[in-house]
Amino acid sequence: MTFNPLRERGIPLDRQVRNWRELDVTPIDPDHADPYTRCRIITMNGIEIEAIMFSHHFARRCPDLGVRQRLAEVRYVEQQQQKAVNWLLPGLASVLETTIAYEQVAVDLTAWVARMEPDPYLRKAYEFGVLEDFDHLYRYANLYEMIEHRKAEKIVDQLTEVMPGRPTKMHHRHPVDNVREHYDREKAKPVSKLHALTIMSAEQQTMNFYMNVGPTYMEPIARQLYQEIGLIEEEHVTHYESLLDPRETWWEQWLNHEYNECYLYHSFMETESDPKVKAIWELHLNMELEHLRIAADLFREHDGRDPEQVLAPTLPTPVTFEPNKGYLRELISTQIDHTTLGTGYVQEAHERFQRWQEQIHDDVEPASERVIDDNRARSGEEYRLEIEGGHPLYSLRSH
Ligand SMILES: [Fe+2]
Ligand SMILES: [Fe+2]
Ligand SMILES: [Fe+2]
Ligand SMILES: [Fe+2]
Repeated sequence: MTFNPLRERGIPLDRQVRNWRELDVTPIDPDHADPYTRCRIITMNGIEIEAIMFSHHFARRCPDLGVRQRLAEVRYVEQQQQKAVNWLLPGLASVLETTIAYEQVAVDLTAWVARMEPDPYLRKAYEFGVLEDFDHLYRYANLYEMIEHRKAEKIVDQLTEVMPGRPTKMHHRHPVDNVREHYDREKAKPVSKLHALTIMSAEQQTMNFYMNVGPTYMEPIARQLYQEIGLIEEEHVTHYESLLDPRETWWEQWLNHEYNECYLYHSFMETESDPKVKAIWELHLNMELEHLRIAADLFREHDGRDPEQVLAPTLPTPVTFEPNKGYLRELISTQIDHTTLGTGYVQEAHERFQRWQEQIHDDVEPASERVIDDNRARSGEEYRLEIEGGHPLYSLRSH
């Protein structure tokens, strides 16, 4: 089936605004919902937040009153979409449960994107990053067992494994080494631009979430773990945002943002198992088609090019949440000891990395290490969810 969002008609903008009744969505049932439905909700919340913040930044740089008014109108709808989407999450879930779901998103979305990405340099960036969020999931799962006395399989089900990835302690790099080369806006495939925007948005909302919820805990180990992993999410946002070509004009960036929203709502509409949630994806897709039309008109007018010159002719393969267990095990066995040097990757720790490690750790074990020892002491053993067998690396098998 081919779907060209530029050719489809959406809902006119003045009919997109919802009243309180329409915004009052019924949350998903935390005990019976498909974990991947929750992952799609979290992903779309990240996408809408990026749409809103991008529009604010654009408005602050744009002297044209008419365009600023247009941005404000579309942005109000993006805000309502964000409210409808994020309010699908049930109030019953604890912050830590939502955190574990965020890391599950980071693992299965980034792994899927890595598998689909045609450009080898971009693919490597996703392969590199996914092994870190995979390890965050393991650290938070141990914190969860320790302070809430529950097991992470209640959240991730049997879809995503929980075990050590690249140890979190080793994620602390010199900021200079987190900046990648960007793709070339003239040469990159449209799908590569969509991948970069999607993963950047997802990591950005995780970064924002940890910045705000981290200090809501009483337990010192929880506060410290959020602080540590929160700093790594800053590294991840730097890593992924640097992949986007900064030479794209504001009009082009707006166009890509709206196109990506169409792509993701369409993808999730195609793959959603919960009919009530699916209806929201469909409604939002029909709103985004009109946002895209507006952005395309302004692009023609101000950028002087045709949207067809920069966008894909039809939507790429739908973004799919599905298990990536075998793929992740393969990455663990081949890339666990990688780090970055400048815009490239190396296997050995280099001088700048060592210096940064000494500075931040200062001979103290970070929370990401202590949380495992503490949980082992309290629960008898550390928490893991190894479904496909023992850990792929002998040295990281539990004993
Ligand atoms: Fe939106
Ligand atoms: Fe993470
Ligand atoms: Fe991350
Ligand atoms: Fe939009």
